[in-house]
Amino acid sequence: MAEPLTATERSTLIHAAQIVAQHAYAPYSRFRVGAAVLGGSGVYLGTNVENASSGLSLCAERSALCAAVAAGDLRIRAVAVACIDADPAGPAGSLMPCGACCQWVAELAPHATIIVAGLDRDYVIEDLLPRPFRLS
Ligand code: THU
Repeated sequence: MAEPLTATERSTLIHAAQIVAQHAYAPYSRFRVGAAVLGGSGVYLGTNVENASSGLSLCAERSALCAAVAAGDLRIRAVAVACIDADPAGPAGSLMPCGACCQWVAELAPHATIIVAGLDRDYVIEDLLPRPFRLS
């Protein structure tokens, strides 16, 4: 069960994700994404990092989750994502975490609140990926 966030925690994470998105390395898609992960000991940031070999690009959420893992902090309470180049009049899907990132959240942050900048409601991973792959 996701532990409730305060309104301040929520808005701080959205703001952090929007700010860090400005550092995205996205010369191919021109679609900058930022993510902020709230752990037990701090906030971990990530951006998408693309590559000329396009299948090697890394999403912002996984980049931020890597930072949390590297800090040894897996008490993850929330994952916020901000797609700052998404068309505000476009489909909500252009704001959402991709399937690969959802699989990572299912593994590393199964109890996290998932915050999508620009949407009024938050999610838990069961909303987005009800049947994640798991090894027993
Ligand atoms: N992207 C993310 O960073 N997170 C997602 O959940 C979906 C997509 C990035 C990958 C790529 O650099 C760009 O957005 C366009 O797909």
